[in-house]
Amino acid sequence: MEMNKEFVTLALPGEKTYEIPVITDSMGDKFIDIRALRKDTGLITYDPGFVNTGSCTSSICYINGEEGVLRYRGYDIEDLVKYCDFVEVAYLLVKGELPNNIERKRYADLLNEESLLHYDMQSFFRRYPPEAHPMSVLAAMSVSLSAFYPEMDDIDPELQIDFAVTRLISKIRTITAFTYRHMKGEDFVNPSYKYSYCENFLNMMFNSPVREYKIDPLHVKALNQLLILHADHEQNCSTTAVRLIASSEANLYASVSAGICALWGPKHGGANQAVIEMLKHALETHQSAKEMVEMAKDKRNPYLLMGFGHRVYKTFDPRAKIAKQLCQEVLSHNGFVDPLLNLAMELEEVAKQDSYFQDRMLYPNIDFYTGLIFRAMGIPTNMFTCMFAIGRLPGWIAHWLEWKQDPYQKIGRPRQVYDGPQLRSVKPLSDRS
Ligand code: SDX
Repeated sequence: MEMNKEFVTLALPGEKTYEIPVITDSMGDKFIDIRALRKDTGLITYDPGFVNTGSCTSSICYINGEEGVLRYRGYDIEDLVKYCDFVEVAYLLVKGELPNNIERKRYADLLNEESLLHYDMQSFFRRYPPEAHPMSVLAAMSVSLSAFYPEMDDIDPELQIDFAVTRLISKIRTITAFTYRHMKGEDFVNPSYKYSYCENFLNMMFNSPVREYKIDPLHVKALNQLLILHADHEQNCSTTAVRLIASSEANLYASVSAGICALWGPKHGGANQAVIEMLKHALETHQSAKEMVEMAKDKRNPYLLMGFGHRVYKTFDPRAKIAKQLCQEVLSHNGFVDPLLNLAMELEEVAKQDSYFQDRMLYPNIDFYTGLIFRAMGIPTNMFTCMFAIGRLPGWIAHWLEWKQDPYQKIGRPRQVYDGPQLRSVKPLSDRS
């Protein structure tokens, strides 16, 4: 990152001009450094949704929205999905380098050691109504981990981080599976040292004492790839929430719980559930793809094509390309034709030809196809966003750690453009009509 070699000039009407420094990042992208703006000029910027605002420096994830490029720590997402599993990618995001065999084995052993849930925490599930949305349980249980597993101050900080990180990555998976078992009114299936990270999840979800259950290797492969696709994505809404909570120096579990809550929204991680609900509704009401596109274009209608559009990608989301291929592989392997997939592919074609979508560069994003894969694996629709959270967790943790190590960071506290009333005097209650 290069600083203070270039400048932009800010000329205020009738006032002196200011030289504002420009930062050039490691990919050559340029940023106006406004850290001294208010001190030097008395001015503040206005940027709802931070559309034009960089909140930090980061070396974790790189996105080129125009070219559809996504890299974690410099590795293309296509290569990571092809050559790695989720545990390796989680290690990469948190530690900055891909693990060798010994490092991966040690990480896997830590994840295994941390996979059980405290017996008393298990009783919490029984207190939730079975129809509770799984994201409400996941958010509550993740912050509750801080009550059962407080910071261990008496051990080496590096080891402390390894324990806390693997504990979260492992237990979030266990909590999600136990939530599903509670929804079904079935006993929990505990994790086992015999299985890998993704095998354990599937076994905890679907194993049963009344029928033989065989973990499907293709579902294990698909789950590894899906979790990798979700693992990080720069300063998205939920990662920004995690960083903001980290900035008040709250603990990691509290920050992750905030990330889970932010992810829940249908405009963010909740979109994978909303896509399936949109497709199902269209099939049930015999809506054509063309009619869905026309509704999404109608400004009088709040209807959006869920799974389409992206703040950063102005071309096909590279993750959606991979998910689309994986979706076709899993569904053909399962041997059933999902009418939702046919409608999804028709919708993609109709939208691609439509000038409204072309002009606004609206393409399928990660959420458009992933729900169809989770559905084909037997995961219920209202748990899709939990799957997104399991995948995104290593990214949230990496950003939380990066915030803690950033010398330039301060507590997050944006300003505002005030458009409220001028000064008024208070009338006593007796005088108010
Ligand atoms: C994720 O940030 C990340 O990286 C997120 C994520 C990650 O990995 O963390 O990639 C995961 O959240 C993916 C996005 C999932 N959400 C959806 O699929 C919900 C549907 N999409 C939209 O809500 C929207 O596209 C957003 C929220 C994704 C992006 O919104 P922006 O960047 O704020 O864009 P916008 O709302 O200003 O839209 C620009 C125009 C508007 O029309 P005009 O005012 O110009 O006429 O495009 C239109 C919007 O109405 N538009 C859509 C649309 N998305 C945008 N019109 C119809 N259908 C859509 N889906």
